[in-house]
Amino acid sequence: MENQPIAIRPLRAQDIHDVYQLHKALLPLSYPPAFFRQCILHPQKQLCLVVESPSTTPKIVAFLTASVQQAPQSPVRELHILTLGVASTHRRQGLATELIRAAILLLQKNLACADTPSHIKLVAHAAVSNAHARAFFRKTMVHELEEERVEGLYRKSGMMLASKDAYRFTSYAPLGMDLCVGAL
Ligand SMILES: CC(C)(COP(=O)(O)OP(=O)(O)OC[C@H]1O[C@@H](n2cnc3c(N)ncnc32)[C@H](O)[C@@H]1OP(=O)(O)O)[C@@H](O)C(=O)NCCC(=O)NCCS
Repeated sequence: MENQPIAIRPLRAQDIHDVYQLHKALLPLSYPPAFFRQCILHPQKQLCLVVESPSTTPKIVAFLTASVQQAPQSPVRELHILTLGVASTHRRQGLATELIRAAILLLQKNLACADTPSHIKLVAHAAVSNAHARAFFRKTMVHELEEERVEGLYRKSGMMLASKDAYRFTSYAPLGMDLCVGAL
């Protein structure tokens, strides 16, 4: 079992309970199950990818949720990372990095059918108190990275955070990047 590959794939209906519980375990707030159902129904607008490990129970050990946005008349598609989490047992193995790459790949696949080529802009937030997430986004969002502090982003969220401020990270996905991910 140990050597079986870890797979990245879109969320399935039978995963919703586990991905909801993993959100609650790793983040100060989770989305309701209805949010995850929307990811399955409308992945072109809102997506959820999970990492499944063959050797753990429950099998879902990491997740990414994101929304896809586009300003009117703009060729830029924005991939807003909403949540990203990796079980503590599986960290520093590149899983969060692979989840972001897989989300970009999925969006690029969808855009391949579009009339005009689009750039993909990545947007992510990390609470100012979340040094691990900030280190992660600084390491992975390297293309034209911009980082700015957003005052009070989490003020109305009800989340128990040391500070309600966040850092917003934006960068661009490299065009034609060589994406090597598990089954999608
Ligand atoms: C942040 C998080 C998603 C990173 O997941 P991960 O799978 O361990 O990240 P990766 O293995 O892809 O890390 C890639 C690089 O980011 C940096 N990085 C990741 N975690 C780090 C940490 N705790 N401290 C410092 N740098 C870190 C490192 O440079 C790492 O490369 P390296 O391992 O070769 O040094 C994970 O720690 C987590 O789930 N945290 C709790 C939830 C959370 O805060 N989510 C983010 C906000 S939604």
